[in-house]
Amino acid sequence: MVSVPLVHPDQTGLRELVRPSLRTVAAYDPGPSLTELEVRYGVKDIVKLNWNEDLFGLLPGVREAVIEEIRRAPLYPEQAYSDFRDLVAARTGADPAMVAPAHGIQALVFAVVAAFLNPGDRVVLPKPTYGLYRQACEAAGAEVLRVPSREYRLDLEAMLSAAQGAKLVFVCDPNNPTGDALAPEEWAAFLERLPHGCLVIVDEAYADYIAPKQRPSRVAEVADGRPVVVLRTFSKLFGIAGLRLGFAIANPDLIPCLDAVQEPFNVNRLALAAGMACLRDPAMIEARRRQVVAARDGFAAKLAALAIPTWPSQANFVLANPGGDDGRWYEGLVRRGFLVRRGSEFGLEGHLRITVGPEKLMTAVASAIAAVAAEQRGYDGP
Ligand SMILES: Cc1ncc(COP(=O)(O)O)c(C=O)c1O
Repeated sequence: MVSVPLVHPDQTGLRELVRPSLRTVAAYDPGPSLTELEVRYGVKDIVKLNWNEDLFGLLPGVREAVIEEIRRAPLYPEQAYSDFRDLVAARTGADPAMVAPAHGIQALVFAVVAAFLNPGDRVVLPKPTYGLYRQACEAAGAEVLRVPSREYRLDLEAMLSAAQGAKLVFVCDPNNPTGDALAPEEWAAFLERLPHGCLVIVDEAYADYIAPKQRPSRVAEVADGRPVVVLRTFSKLFGIAGLRLGFAIANPDLIPCLDAVQEPFNVNRLALAAGMACLRDPAMIEARRRQVVAARDGFAAKLAALAIPTWPSQANFVLANPGGDDGRWYEGLVRRGFLVRRGSEFGLEGHLRITVGPEKLMTAVASAIAAVAAEQRGYDGP
């Protein structure tokens, strides 16, 4: 087909119609595709350790549930999602009226922003943290205050000061990209002192990796009417990132508002079926959690043996600090077939964020890191 000639974007004037706050906001940049990287570095079958996707395989029952549900693909999903809400409620201790299903936390971040933020409202974000909060808040025209972390940990004291006069505070717990988690008592003290009129949005994408007894339980706080909205996902421990499924736990008063800013049939049938299959067996989930934690801690120990420090992680990734130029570490690892995240993307020069997969894979990653280290010593001298 012949492609039509494009008028230069500057000549259309169409951007003038876009909301002013959007004119300077950059869309999320996913980086080069695997195919591009394979061509650029001349390697095949690159393993993705850059997006904290699950690398342990589908949980039992998920594939069968999806295959069974595909027969109902001609029908819109049931809009109230009552089976899903009930099962989430049963597993989390929430009331079904506190659950808002969505196609992932990403969708919920935008829903929260649409529901609460007017242009000029102030939002507090830690730094570093998951980048989408900033994009969504800036796109809405909010005033974004970044609060630098201290030694890889959220500076809750500074966040509380910044929260004076703010509408929203985002807390990612465990935080991305550090893997650091708040102790339940730190969280309780933070919530206690949160200024009146401020709502805290807690992204618990990685909370499923924390041992159940150490996890802050925020459902009771939400039920109590405290100013907390919790965001959860099936993209990490449950391993269905590609199907897009998550939910918010919020006060029943807020759920209709979150639902009102999402599309009516926002969650697809296959995602719902897969998500419910994941939730059916808590023992299976706990077994998977332990498997990931063992692989993660084993990998951190391997890096320690190479004299590469890591920050203690409660998630499915580790933040390693090999030092030097993280771009060179990144390239050395891509050439060996492993794609990781450069710390400099988060303002953490010299660091790498590496997703954890099964033990055998992580042994190969550690060997590749040792080889890159040897190569770098070769360049730099001993
Ligand atoms: C902190 C955090 N929140 C949310 C997400 C994305 O969640 P979802 O796939 O549910 O949109 C990610 C993905 O990496 C993440 O790191």
